[in-house]
Amino acid sequence: MSDLQVHAHLAHHAQYVNAVRAAGEFEGLEDAIRRSGKNAVLARSANQAWNHHLMWHSLSPSGGGPPTMGRLAQSVPNIVPELRRAMLDVWGSGWVWVVLRKHRISVEATQNEQRPQGYPLLCFDLWEHAYYVDHFGDRSRYADVLLSQLVNWEFAEARIDGYTPPELQ
Ligand SMILES: [Fe+2]
Repeated sequence: MSDLQVHAHLAHHAQYVNAVRAAGEFEGLEDAIRRSGKNAVLARSANQAWNHHLMWHSLSPSGGGPPTMGRLAQSVPNIVPELRRAMLDVWGSGWVWVVLRKHRISVEATQNEQRPQGYPLLCFDLWEHAYYVDHFGDRSRYADVLLSQLVNWEFAEARIDGYTPPELQ
């Protein structure tokens, strides 16, 4: 992923954070989501900000490839092809997630800013702003780069153990 792509993506992330800040004082993003009520702009922006925080943790310059050890490797051996298929199946903007649900690890997809049913371990952004600079409209090339070079499996294992990054608390 190029520096310019990361920079462009951070600019989108900043817009969501700024929209939350403009809407009022909150204890954090979870608080903003809970208190958004009928304020759809706040609800969407807070969700998008939350998703992006988790997403940056979901990527690592030394990541990618299938998980080779830990619970992910043991319980979901086909997770890389499952993620790739889910990334290509989302129609329009959305997210693909690795979640923990009822003690099982699985892949979920959501539309727009929506969060998944399960407890999110990792998420990947499928909005065009996430890949347009590097790949134009070719989401399959973006998916291949994510899956072969960037997925942060160690972070997912830490999430299984209960780790929550400070900005998501
Ligand atoms: Fe994004």
